[in-house]
Amino acid sequence: MKLFVSEVMHDKEIVDTVFEASQGAIEASKKYGVENVVNGAFGTYFDETGKLLTFETVYRTFDKVDDIQKGKYASSIMGSPEFQAGVKDWLFTSVGLDIPCHIIATPGGTGALSSTVKNILSPGQTVIFPDIGWGPYTTIAKEQRTPIETYQLFDGDHFNIESFKSVCTDVMRKQGKVLVFVNDPCQNPTGYTMTEDEWDQMIDFIKEISKEGAFILLHDIAYIDFNLEGDRYKKIFQRFVDLPENVLTVIAFSASKTMTAYGMRVGAQILISSNEEQMMKVVHACGNTARGVWSTVNNGGMKMFADIALNPEIKERYVIEKSEYVTLLKDRAAIFVKEAEEVGLPLYPYKEGFFVTIRIDDQIVKNELHLKLKTLNIFFVNVYGGLRVAICSIQKEKIYGLAARVKEALDILTGESNTSEED
Ligand SMILES: Cc1ncc(COP(=O)(O)O)c(C=O)c1O
Repeated sequence: MKLFVSEVMHDKEIVDTVFEASQGAIEASKKYGVENVVNGAFGTYFDETGKLLTFETVYRTFDKVDDIQKGKYASSIMGSPEFQAGVKDWLFTSVGLDIPCHIIATPGGTGALSSTVKNILSPGQTVIFPDIGWGPYTTIAKEQRTPIETYQLFDGDHFNIESFKSVCTDVMRKQGKVLVFVNDPCQNPTGYTMTEDEWDQMIDFIKEISKEGAFILLHDIAYIDFNLEGDRYKKIFQRFVDLPENVLTVIAFSASKTMTAYGMRVGAQILISSNEEQMMKVVHACGNTARGVWSTVNNGGMKMFADIALNPEIKERYVIEKSEYVTLLKDRAAIFVKEAEEVGLPLYPYKEGFFVTIRIDDQIVKNELHLKLKTLNIFFVNVYGGLRVAICSIQKEKIYGLAARVKEALDILTGESNTSEED
């Protein structure tokens, strides 16, 4: 019997832990009533009324995009010129940076990540991810049949620069080229943001190791617009200018969270290198992937983004509207983190963003806790090293007391309950 599916694609059954956990939460809400379910599975922002957050500024701007713009193909495979200008302004010009770059529109940040892996690595070459990271990184690697090495994200409460260095050095020595993912700020799933000093150490290392071969840093900034210091974070990009000729930085931008426009599928690769000739080869390869895989990106979405990014009055309204929700996330996180500390529930170092992760080193305990919580109508995502709590999708009233409920379930599993039968 011949396979319908190709011999090389036959083992690609997709198990997406986020969609799976979200489905559980949806079904439980139907069965037991939404008020009785803690849905900490969705990676999208829900407001305090339990509704998917959609920014007024974004969707009223989208309403004004005319039908022809919404319906037509983009004017360029690489993204419309105004979208490219909008991205450049959003990330660089508006914070006073003048960074020469090439921009390729992609369907969301996922398109940017996937095209980068495909066009940087030859078959059999290894990509490097953080050990605790966004699940679909693995799916992207599987799609290209790319082997994975991981660096440890944390050393105690800090970015593990030593592990980063050692894994990159090993891979460089084996294949003469490194492609490594760094997800910052508001890392998914831990909510960690690297310090300026950690960035400096990383850049110093990149300068050194790139003497041995090509070094491609993929900076995944999916949650950049939800960091607490706002646009000031973007100054980090200045560090990518004037790096040695062997270094290419690819910033993966996503409009999904920035614009509360997950379904619109708008994103971009932003390429920066002092080696224009080599960079152009990557630009051409990524342009070919665009044409051959998705053709052009949603034109109405790109137009809407450009209309906001390049119009100071609309952008100001957007910033004011968004800041309310950055504050709300901060408030939700503060409740959970404080209560977790009070009851002794261990967390990875959270700084900001959509997610907090409960640290559970024992995989069996972690899996059991995940299942146990489901029976209590509490839905989190099972990630490497812990359970991801999507505070972006849990209303404040449901966060109060949540850490204690999780700790109680954990204690029962590990036999560490404080209440003995004699009490
Ligand atoms: C860490 C990270 N990177 C990239 C993405 C890409 O998102 P999208 O393809 O919707 O832009 C996500 C989305 O959840 C993410 O969490």
